[in-house]
Amino acid sequence: MQGFDPATSFGPDVAGRYDDHPRGDEAQTVDFLDRYTHRDATSGDADGGRAGQGHAVERTALELAIGTGRIALPLAQRGVRVDGIELSPDMVAAMRAKPGGADLRVTIGDMAEVRAPGERYPLVYLVFNTIYNLLTQQAQVRCFENAARHLTDNGVFVVEAGVPSAWLRGDQFVDVERVTTDEVVLDVNRYDPVTQILDENHVSLTSGGVRMGPISCRLIWPGEMDLMARIAGLRLVNRWAGWRDEPFTSDSKRHISVYAR
Ligand SMILES: C[S@@+](CC[C@H](N)C(=O)[O-])C[C@H]1O[C@@H](n2cnc3c(N)ncnc32)[C@H](O)[C@@H]1O
Repeated sequence: MQGFDPATSFGPDVAGRYDDHPRGDEAQTVDFLDRYTHRDATSGDADGGRAGQGHAVERTALELAIGTGRIALPLAQRGVRVDGIELSPDMVAAMRAKPGGADLRVTIGDMAEVRAPGERYPLVYLVFNTIYNLLTQQAQVRCFENAARHLTDNGVFVVEAGVPSAWLRGDQFVDVERVTTDEVVLDVNRYDPVTQILDENHVSLTSGGVRMGPISCRLIWPGEMDLMARIAGLRLVNRWAGWRDEPFTSDSKRHISVYAR
């Protein structure tokens, strides 16, 4: 999209409004992720080799694109030390303002490139279609490689993303996102099948005026994602259609994919 800059797309305005309309799947997401923080990490660094010596093993996780802590904070409340990587200082500032948000360690930078505060984690996760915020195939592969670099030997990388064919309706389409008495939000889309880039603008119409919410995404089909994982030395171990282990079928609108070495 002409003029779109991923580095500034989650600036102070978006960060300030991000949690106004929660997605509603936070508890289910945390239940799902929490089970992987319990994995035996004796062959990685997460327990420092103490598991067999009667010491409690610290449960840890790394969220790529941690945002305002929508998932990281409730996961941390379960006793997991959650670290993050995030491009937008404004999103992190919004997280810091929430209870417990000041305690999480976050590296500001590109999730495809930078190292996290900890060495290796039994769980690395990237949810809410955010792999698509990387706008080239190369950057998406590098993101898989960076996730793999941060995994303990038995660790898993969990990715949640929409299935493009369930999302796209031709090369241009409009979805109605919200209708209330005060506001209508339209999602205006144009898709380029060559680059796989979807340019979206979330347009809010109110009596006070019009507000634009532009974002570009590079969509990936599950098969391409599995190949990206293979390039990074990972393989698909499970794929579900929802956080409650709903079976993934040809009708599924999103997938939750679990990759391991
Ligand atoms: C849809 S939000 C998801 C935030 C959070 N994971 C959640 O589930 O609420 C997308 C987030 O990805 C961040 N982001 C986009 N590109 C990024 C990149 N290359 N590296 C790190 N974070 C990125 C944005 O700043 C934003 O906070």
